[in-house]
Amino acid sequence: MDISVFATTLSTLPEDDDHPYRTGPWRPQTREFDAEDLDVEGELPADLYGAYLRNTENPVHPALVRYHPFDGDGMIHMTSFRDGKATYRNRFVKTDGFRAERAAGGPLWAGIAESPALSIRRDGWGARGLLKDASSTDVVVHAGVAVTSFWQCGDLYRLDPLTLDDLGKESWGGAFPSDVGVSAHTKVDERTGELLFFNYSTKAPLLHYGVVDAARHLVHYVPIEIPGARLPHDMTFTENYAILNDLPLFWEPDLIKQGHYVSRLHRDLPSRLGVIPRRGDSATIKWFEFDPTYVLHWTNAWEDGDDIVVEGFFQGCPEPKNPSPEGPPSRMLRFLAQDMLETRLHRWRMNLVTGIVKEEDLTATCSEFGAINANFAGRPSRFVYAATNRPGWFLFNGFVKHDTLTGNEVRVNLDEGVYCSEIGVAPKVGGLGEDDVYLVTYTVDMNRDLSECVVYDGADVAAGPVAKVRLPERLSSGTHSCWAQGTNLAGW
Ligand SMILES: [Fe+2]
Repeated sequence: MDISVFATTLSTLPEDDDHPYRTGPWRPQTREFDAEDLDVEGELPADLYGAYLRNTENPVHPALVRYHPFDGDGMIHMTSFRDGKATYRNRFVKTDGFRAERAAGGPLWAGIAESPALSIRRDGWGARGLLKDASSTDVVVHAGVAVTSFWQCGDLYRLDPLTLDDLGKESWGGAFPSDVGVSAHTKVDERTGELLFFNYSTKAPLLHYGVVDAARHLVHYVPIEIPGARLPHDMTFTENYAILNDLPLFWEPDLIKQGHYVSRLHRDLPSRLGVIPRRGDSATIKWFEFDPTYVLHWTNAWEDGDDIVVEGFFQGCPEPKNPSPEGPPSRMLRFLAQDMLETRLHRWRMNLVTGIVKEEDLTATCSEFGAINANFAGRPSRFVYAATNRPGWFLFNGFVKHDTLTGNEVRVNLDEGVYCSEIGVAPKVGGLGEDDVYLVTYTVDMNRDLSECVVYDGADVAAGPVAKVRLPERLSSGTHSCWAQGTNLAGW
């Protein structure tokens, strides 16, 4: 094992910090590591070839008044696998906001639980404006390069997927929509090499949809008409269509006018899914109405004759009213606990010809942050690997392998005090079947004060990890991740 510290960033967080999402499993890191030839327990399979990347909110400075777990600076963790060996690196995403606060030695922008009027800097990013773009939400690999993004819309930041070298902001040949930015959950179609995206705003146009080709040219970008400002978080796609959404949980329009951003579920409104041809526009999008809910994440969509099938996580209780008996009492933190939101895998079906819709729960089991074999994105798929949470908390205490064909579920419960990240689904080299995969995740082990990158055989998760790679230090807990197959990483 060969470990070196690439850089250490000065944190201005209080020594006696007691914020539940800046301490314990969410303790942020200040060191950026380079680590080669990591110690492995078990054996790394020879047909595991590629890189697992995870983004995290990793705050360097306190909030101006009240910290929200989504305010932290972005940090990418990468573990690559080749020839049975593993390499690890982590780097802050060096956004303009990160650099400005580092130079100032403290926070410059109000977080999302604070009034934008508090921001010291009078410029900023985000659908509501005056926010720091931390690029901390999501990471994908497009055209061989890692691309990070921010849930409130911002720039996209490019990093070398193996060295994590900063490659600057995405420009798409000068066509990047810098005025509104791009939302997290850009979608890569592995078959066409395209990247599909959306952005949203409180000012017209309220929603845009776009397509970037495999050569990173913006080839399609259109405004989409919706009845008011919304808070979409994710999108999905089929072979011929993209699926956008208009869900009834959004910022109170009257309060926006007063500069307050408070989200509320509007139970009198339906959930609407918009099916748009991949190169379509507002005139060709078809909207379908379903039961009111909020959906943070979709898992996949596909075409079945004239039907469009969409899967994702329905929230039984999008607005948890009562404090969790097991988590922090604050209202804002309830929205982070998927057990309180009552998230469950759900299927929406709509017929493009007849307009007939149908929806159903696929299970009563609470899970979220679902990953699939990306080679099956946009095509019929069967397996979803989704996180379970510690009740009341934004902490993953295990995961479920859902078989949506049979309803069979295999649950992996980690030891108490051990948490994982969103699952990376790594197709076995030469494997053709959907379940011919390894599952990769990071653990945060509070009992042993360490982290590992663990690898399961997707076909037999109940057997436990086939290998555990010891990382240089205990990571902060975190969520969104992706897997990049080695053959998609140029020059490796
Ligand atoms: Fe997300």
